[in-house]
Amino acid sequence: MEKIYATYSEEPKVRTPRTGGITARLKGEVEFKNVSYRADGEEIVSDINFRVKTGQTVGIIGSTGSGKSTLMNLLCRFYDATSGEVLVDGQDVRRHDLYNLRDNIGMAMQDVFLFSDTIEGNIAYGRPDCSFEEVKHAAVMADANHFISALPEGYDTIVGERGVGLSGGQKQRISLARALLKDPSILILDDTTSAVDMETESYIQSQLKKIQDNCTVFIIAYRISSIKDADLILVMDGGRIIEQGTHEELVAKGGYYARAFHNQYGEIPYGLLKERRARRNRR
Ligand SMILES: Nc1ncnc2c1ncn2[C@@H]1O[C@H](COP(=O)(O)OP(=O)(O)OP(=O)(O)O)[C@@H](O)[C@H]1O
Ligand SMILES: [Mg+2]
Repeated sequence: MEKIYATYSEEPKVRTPRTGGITARLKGEVEFKNVSYRADGEEIVSDINFRVKTGQTVGIIGSTGSGKSTLMNLLCRFYDATSGEVLVDGQDVRRHDLYNLRDNIGMAMQDVFLFSDTIEGNIAYGRPDCSFEEVKHAAVMADANHFISALPEGYDTIVGERGVGLSGGQKQRISLARALLKDPSILILDDTTSAVDMETESYIQSQLKKIQDNCTVFIIAYRISSIKDADLILVMDGGRIIEQGTHEELVAKGGYYARAFHNQYGEIPYGLLKERRARRNRR
């Protein structure tokens, strides 16, 4: 009872400025200005600076525990930056109406959570009033319609704790459909295509291009193929952005990203080749 009571009476640290409950579509411009976040006396992310415009895609790559998800949690205001500012449409997230901010964000989280409900209910979670056609459209975009339709009860199949088991890639696609259905101005895909094959991934990428005119997309991934075409790639290590730029720029740079590219594609990136040549010439 004590534990339940403590949870029950917990005051949220993130406070909402109440602006009267208006809901408005945001443009989806995002800027991190000197953002650092500390927890339990430890610096989790430091000195984060980057800026994206509406319709751009940001790829985030980096070793496990490097702070990728933390950046997105700061953007959604699951907690507040210790210093610096996270701006959406030029305004500090702390000055946005929290409900409206989150209403504008579609997020497929790293650990997919499915409710004990039908597949339709799970996809429509963020917009319970939407039509079946809209649910199906989102599922098609997430390449989930095929396998859902093949289930004996289709969209009425119960999943989650009490329901049928789904594979990792199937769960990821349901959570992607859920995020897409919100028609968000900021879409966050945290490790969302890690468990699907390359072909499915490239299908999903082509579908994402359709919504990108009025949506800023963040893609966190380990696979270079997931983020190669992004307008901006952030390479994270130990809570810092160690490299940022486009795929070509980063490959030419011959650093962490170029090495990851080399490892995954088995090609020697131009930047590394140049570096090697220079070293050989010095000898
Ligand atoms: N609220 C928090 N309180 C304390 N520590 C945290 C908090 N959030 C994250 N961390 C720690 O910060 C580090 C970065 O975590 P984060 O989840 O951002 O990494 P990541 O880059 O997303 O890793 P992965 O690729 O494995 O998902 C980890 O060491 C984690 O344990
Ligand atoms: Mg993570």
